[in-house]
Parts: sequence; structure tokens; C-alpha cells
Amino acid sequence: MKVAFIGTGSMGSLLIEAFLRSGALHPHNIHVSNRSSHKSELLARRHPGISVSGSNADVARGSHIVFLCVKPLDYPVVLSEIREAVSEKTIIVSITSPVQIEVLEQQLPAKIAKIIPSVTHSVHSGASLCIYGDRIQSEDRLLLEQLMSSISIPTIIWETQVRIASDISSCGPAFISFILQQWAKSAAELTDISEQNALRLGAEMLLGTGKLLTEGGFTPEELQRRVAVPGGVTAEGITVLSSSLQGVFSSLIRATHDKYDEDLNKLSHLFPVDSSN
Ligand SMILES: NC(=O)c1ccc[n+]([C@@H]2O[C@H](COP(=O)([O-])OP(=O)(O)OC[C@H]3O[C@@H](n4cnc5c(N)ncnc54)[C@H](OP(=O)(O)O)[C@@H]3O)[C@@H](O)[C@H]2O)c1
Repeated sequence: MKVAFIGTGSMGSLLIEAFLRSGALHPHNIHVSNRSSHKSELLARRHPGISVSGSNADVARGSHIVFLCVKPLDYPVVLSEIREAVSEKTIIVSITSPVQIEVLEQQLPAKIAKIIPSVTHSVHSGASLCIYGDRIQSEDRLLLEQLMSSISIPTIIWETQVRIASDISSCGPAFISFILQQWAKSAAELTDISEQNALRLGAEMLLGTGKLLTEGGFTPEELQRRVAVPGGVTAEGITVLSSSLQGVFSSLIRATHDKYDEDLNKLSHLFPVDSSN
């Protein structure tokens, strides 16, 4: 199977390396291109067998799956370059949230999927958010979900949910590690633990909490009841959190959705929707 990656920046190279580590893909399956050649050449030096091209059309041509790992505003150039190189059999996977499946279906003759990954896939963890266009058949879904399940938990969502779901699964690692960092800083300021030790304890705690909430079968409420005995120190902490975090997550969701609307607006000028289809 030939799998192409157009764009080998942060997410493109993370996906390639995660697929290689999982054994789902081998270097000879992988064909890459990137605007500036040094990133793709570095990747090919690290993983001999990966084939590199300076042309997006060349890597897309004859590929079974083409991952588009460029930023939203770079889509018009990439789509116009690969339009003639893909067919109705090619599966295109867009990894960015604001470029709509409808737009991609208008721009390319191919089958379109949107799969939003997360940095957590580099440790074969986290949910990948899967949305399929109408041309995707059940065997295509099976192929994509087999591939994604080698590095993540594929999770089907609606396109209307893509922003909020990406906030949690893709932006979440940045948000949660920011909270952990603030907690560790305060711990080091107010007590004799070092920030580094506080961070290490926090990271292990996050890992364990994630396991309890998934494979452990706990709900957040059950977990809180289990730890926060009435009159104990945890209950005191929960009281502080419930008053201090009031409204914080609503503001966060509003901020990410406002930025998303801005991106959608910029893209609507680049890709006016063709209502004749
Ligand atoms: N980072 C995350 O955690 C994450 C999570 C989920 C989804 N995403 C999505 O993934 C996409 C890529 O993000 P990223 O963080 O990987 O960005 P990035 O590090 O900037 O990578 C984008 C890559 O695309 C290349 N590129 C741009 N135009 C191109 C063209 N015409 N032909 C070939 N390659 C081209 C860039 O090449 P140059 O070297 O020339 O700049 C760059 O290496 C974004 O749309 C983002 O929304 C990211």
C-alpha cells in the first residue's frame, strides 16, 4: 500500500513516525513531500526507505491514501497541485478542522475523510476524530480505522462537532499541561517540593487518572467520591476549584470557537462553496 504525506511539519512527521513505530506502515509504503525540502529529507535520512519528492502531485499519484498535513491556508495551492494526480479511488485524509469535507469533495474527484489527530498519538494514545464524506465506502472506513487504531482510538464524530471535539482531544494536551505547570509552580513557591518533582508526580497522576476514567470504568463523579471523603483535604480543594473555575471553560470554548469562525471566514473567501452541486 502506498501512503502519501503532503506536509512533514510537526503533525505530518509525528504521524509518520508513530505509524512506523507501530509497524502499521513500513518506510517503503511512505511517500512524502514538503514545501521546504529539508524537513522531508531529514525524515528520509532517519527512516531509510521513505521516498521523498519535491512535487506534491508526484507523491499523490498512485497513492492509496494521501494525508494532507498542511495548514488550512495552504490548502488551495496543494489542492490545485494534486487535482489531476488523484482519482475517484484515492482516499484523501485532511487533518485540519476548518476545511470542510464539502469543499474538498468539490475540489477533488477523490474519496474524502477528515481525521483530526492529537500529539498523544506519538505515544500511541488519545482519540483520533474521524468524519467521512459520502464517497467513502465501508471498506475505506475499515482501512482508515485499522490504520488509525495502530496509534490511537479512532472515534467517529459529526463535522459540526469538530471544533469542540478537537478542543478536547487535540488542544487538550496543551491546556492540561498548562494547568499542571501552574499547579507545580505554585507547589514549588509555597512548599519545599521542587517544580520538577511536582511535575513528575502530576504527570504520573494524569496517566493514572486517564486509565481509571477509561479502562478502570470510573465516571468523574465516582472518582471524586472515592478520593474526596467528606471533611477531608480533597473536599476542601474541590470547594476551591468549584468556585474558582466558574465560567473558565465556557470562556475557553467561546475563545476557540471565535478563532475557528475567523478561520472559516478566511477560508470561505478562498473556497467559495459551489451551490450548483
Ligand atoms: N500540531 C497539532 O497538535 C495538530 C493536531 C491536530 C491537527 N493539526 C493540524 O495539522 C495541520 C498541520 O499542523 P502542523 O502543526 O503540522 O503545522 P506545521 O508544523 O507548520 O507543518 C505544516 C507543514 O506543511 C508544509 N507545507 C506548507 N505548504 C505546503 C505545500 N504547498 N506543499 C507541501 N508542504 C507544504 C510546511 O512546509 P514548510 O517547512 O515550508 O513550512 C510545513 O512543514 C494544521 O492544519 C493543524 O490544524 C495539528
